[in-house]
Amino acid sequence: MNDLLALHTGLTDDLTAAVRRVVGSGWYVLGREVAAFEEAFAAYCGAGHAVGVGNGTDAIELALAGVGVGRGDRVALAANAGGYGTTAVLALGAEPVHVDVDEDTATLDPALLDQERFDAVLVTHLYGRLADMPALRAVADRHGAAVVEDCAQAHGAARDGPSGVRRAGAWGDAAAFSFYPTKNLGALGDAGAVVTASAEVADRVRRLRQYGWDRKYHQVTGPARNSRLDELQAALLSVKLPHLDGWNAARVAVAARYRDAIRHPQVTLPDVEAPGHVGHLYVLRCTDRDALSAHLRARDVPHDVHYPLPDHRQPVHGDRFAGRCLPVTERLCAEVLSLPCHPALDPRLDPARVDDIAAAVTAFGKG
Ligand SMILES: Cc1ncc(COP(=O)(O)O)c(C=O)c1O
Repeated sequence: MNDLLALHTGLTDDLTAAVRRVVGSGWYVLGREVAAFEEAFAAYCGAGHAVGVGNGTDAIELALAGVGVGRGDRVALAANAGGYGTTAVLALGAEPVHVDVDEDTATLDPALLDQERFDAVLVTHLYGRLADMPALRAVADRHGAAVVEDCAQAHGAARDGPSGVRRAGAWGDAAAFSFYPTKNLGALGDAGAVVTASAEVADRVRRLRQYGWDRKYHQVTGPARNSRLDELQAALLSVKLPHLDGWNAARVAVAARYRDAIRHPQVTLPDVEAPGHVGHLYVLRCTDRDALSAHLRARDVPHDVHYPLPDHRQPVHGDRFAGRCLPVTERLCAEVLSLPCHPALDPRLDPARVDDIAAAVTAFGKG
């Protein structure tokens, strides 16, 4: 599904120089490299502050805590985004309120959100496309609720708002990013960040990521944890950040090529024309998804399902969410299938690999 070696091969000298710089610095956690990356990434998002943390799930938890979510609070979120949000909400002792998604965008449906009672909403920009932030923000404001974005799949995604085009991370009261290696901006290990326009939220998250300290050995904020970004990952991310827009454009070119090449009556293609889409995943729908998957497997075509089981049906929760009925979410989980979509497949350099995958999909059910 990905080719991280190809992605990094062109950057070997710069990545190696960054590693040497960190090794030679004698300082390995929360130092100059982290501060430099935080500043550059906040500027990229247009959000004022970025706080580096250990991974994307911690980033969600810390972003929610940073805007004041705690034990017993109700957090509205989608159930089709891999379970990370629900995991973070439960870790805070808060209550997940799963809301169904819009059929076309697979992101939170503002009208359904409006029918719920919630203290905060976690909005996941799924597959590389921004959710309808102006509408979701308006609903949250009406409910007096905080808005946290999950941008793990949407680095650089943008759309128009009341004050012009804004990137993922610049819409909510706080936003969480994952830099897991396969993300549009990925580290060479685990990493994450919380992004926010608020100096107060940023300060709280800075304390929460490191034992609640406001200074060494002095705990003022809790419940806290240790979730720090290390110097090595920050230095590597700083090498990669200037390439993010180019890689996003390559992903979108892959998606456009699939759109032009795949023709099948049982297959619905995603809307790659959506403004500001960054092509994190190319997720089509098929009414006979499992048969399509078997067909692709037989032809050695890499593919995946994001995600097969919605959060409220995960076995770990027992019957805790048994009363939740999310028909669109459940239909999508049964029909979605992801094709490879990453910069190394850029069809502007070589269309053959994308065309081969597209031809395999088009051949589904034709003997
Ligand atoms: C939408 C979404 N949210 C959160 C995460 C969690 O990030 P991490 O794996 O860095 O904890 C991921 C990816 O893994 C994700 O895709």
